[in-house]
Order: sequence, then C-alpha cells, then structure tokens
Amino acid sequence: MHVLVTGGAGFIGSHTCLHLLENGVDVTAFDNFCNSSPDALRRVQELAGRRLQVVEGDVRDTASLHVILNGPTPVDAVVHFAGLKSVGESVAEPVRYYDNNVVGTLHLIEAMQRANVFTLVFSSTATVYGNPAPEHLPLKETAPCGQTHSPYATSKWMVERCLADLHLAQPHWRIARLRYFNPVGAHPSGRIGESPLGIPNNLMPFVSQVASGVRPTLSIFGGDYPTPDGTGVRDYIHVMDLAEGHVATLKYLATRKEGELLTLNLGTGEGRSVLEVVHTFEAVTGQAVPYQIVSRRSGDVPAYYANAAQAQKMLQWHATRTLEDMCADTWRWQTANPCGYQNESNAIYPKG
Ligand code: WQD
Repeated sequence: MHVLVTGGAGFIGSHTCLHLLENGVDVTAFDNFCNSSPDALRRVQELAGRRLQVVEGDVRDTASLHVILNGPTPVDAVVHFAGLKSVGESVAEPVRYYDNNVVGTLHLIEAMQRANVFTLVFSSTATVYGNPAPEHLPLKETAPCGQTHSPYATSKWMVERCLADLHLAQPHWRIARLRYFNPVGAHPSGRIGESPLGIPNNLMPFVSQVASGVRPTLSIFGGDYPTPDGTGVRDYIHVMDLAEGHVATLKYLATRKEGELLTLNLGTGEGRSVLEVVHTFEAVTGQAVPYQIVSRRSGDVPAYYANAAQAQKMLQWHATRTLEDMCADTWRWQTANPCGYQNESNAIYPKG
C-alpha cells in the first residue's frame, strides 16, 4: 500500500507517517514546511528504520500533486493533514485560512479525481461542534454542528460539507472525516513531538515550557466556567493514539469497495480540566507549573469531550494512553528538544 500524507511533517502527520511505515506502508510525505520542519521527517525515518519519500510543496500547487498522484508508484490513499490550525490566527487572517484549508483541499480532490484515487482521510476537528449545550455532552457525531466560532473551525466545517456533497455525487469515494479533540503528547522516544512556532497557543506545550523554565508562568484562561473546578474542560488525546486511529481508518476504508462517507470522533471520551492537566503534569514530572487565573479567552467554550463509541464500533479502535502518559511523553520531548526541531537546510533524503 502507498499512502500520500499531506502535512506529513506536522505534529499529527509525522506521528502518523511513522506508524504507517511501521505497518509496512509506503509513504510519501508532502509538506510546504510553513509550520513544520524537514527534521521531523528525518527523525521519522530513523525511528522507522526505513525511508519515506519527501516532496516539498503546497496542496494548492496542483502540478506537484499531479506528479505524485500519477507517479511510478500508484497512490492507494491520501491522508490530508496539510492546513493552518491556529484558532486565534484565523480570526486575524480569515482569507489565508479559507485559501489554505478549503481551496487547498479542493485542489487536492481534483488532483485525486484526475489520478483515479478515491480514498481520502480528512483531518477535521471537534470545534465543528461549536459551543455544545451540556445535554449534548459527551459529543456524538450526530450532535449539532456548524455553529463555529472561528474561520479555522468554519474552514474545517466547509470542507466536511464539500466532502459530503462529493460523496453524494460520486458514491464510490471512500472518505473519512476524523474530528480530533485535543491532540497532545509525543512519541515515547522523545525524538518527535509538537514544535509550535513562537508562543504556544495550546495548553500542553505552554505548560511544558513553563515547567522547563522557558516561560515564567501559565495564564489559565478563566476560572469561573460552569465546570467542576471552574476551568475549561477538554478531551486530551495522545498523538500516538491519533496516529493509530488513522491507520485503523485506512484499513477500514480499504474494505469498503462500494464507497463510504465515515465521520468519527477521535477522543478518549474523558473531559479533563485545565487544573487537572497542570496538577497531573506536576505530579508526573516533579516540576512546578506556576500559574495565574486570568479572564476567559475569547472564543473558548466551557467544555467539550467526545463520545468515542462510534470509532470503537467501526474501527475496533479506542484511545489507550492516559493523561499521565501524555504529560510524561510531552516532558520527555520538551527536555530532549528545548527548542523543538532545528530547521536544517541540508536535507539528506532524496526529493521525491
Ligand atoms: C485548552 C484549554 C483553554 C492555553 C484548540 C483548537 C482545536 C484543536 C486544539 C486543532 C482551554 C486553556 C490554553 C493557555 C489556558 N486544534 N488554556 N491557557 O482551544 O480547546 O482547541 O486546539 O485542531 O481545533 O480549537 O485547545 O489547548 O488552546 O486550550 O488556560 O495558555 O486550555 O482556555 O480551556 P482548544 P487549547
């Protein structure tokens, strides 16, 4: 099997490429490296003990997609991670987000159609659920969607709708729309992990940088939410579990000869608060995480976490790693790579 992974150098992309390689899949990683490092793919190959093809490019550049999809080794499926993912940044730069996330995906679909490749796993997000009413928690895939609060989330919802309409028009497509909750953690080797550019938007990398002294204190956005301890509740899922979920999805889609449109939550089903994350991180690492509770962050919702039953039923997959594992693996990555990946210009692998 040969899988094209767009955004393959990214946080979830790199961990998925590794798991694919470990499962005997041939991989072409396609990335424009706007928010990732070629070094991640170098390390993926080291960990896997085998090579992957790396092609530097942008999904909006259909010429390079065409070369890959019509190359000497037929592509059996595409896992599409490539896209911009910062909620806050998307509010400031909506057009850039719609161009990358929506237009980019439409270009990819067109290139796939021309190459007769009809199996697609799409990286969606739980933020398509907007601000769920308490009675909808834990969130099922059938919960109300689309009342999104940022161009990022809206762009993902728009792509979900495009894929639904594509499947309606061409039911032979095998499509999975995977709604991630909160991806965190790192490979247990400490060799690959999350490497945010600049100040982390997300909680776990920020906590990790405070614990290591890179940053003096954590601001907890809101202590007055209607949650057990007043801080925001989320469903944190280990990136290794996510990678395994993607491989399970590809295996499932490969059995669906008549086509399929599958929508799945990828979460643990457990909601954990910000303070629980902080205290768990301290307990696991022995490092203090000084914090101050400040006002709520615009756009945040009190709580969302998954009903993960459908993924278990359809894929026989569920998340197995604990919050303690997520903290321990994050910390190992942080201490081994205080500055994340080092962008190295002399890539040693052949350009695909
Ligand atoms: C988690 C909790 C914050 C930072 C976003 C995207 C989502 C997905 C994951 C891509 C919240 C609190 C955070 C900090 C804090 N990304 N927090 N201090 O906002 O749930 O989801 O990232 O798919 O699509 O929307 O994740 O990690 O930013 O926040 O108190 O410095 O931590 O208020 O309660 P979020 P997050």
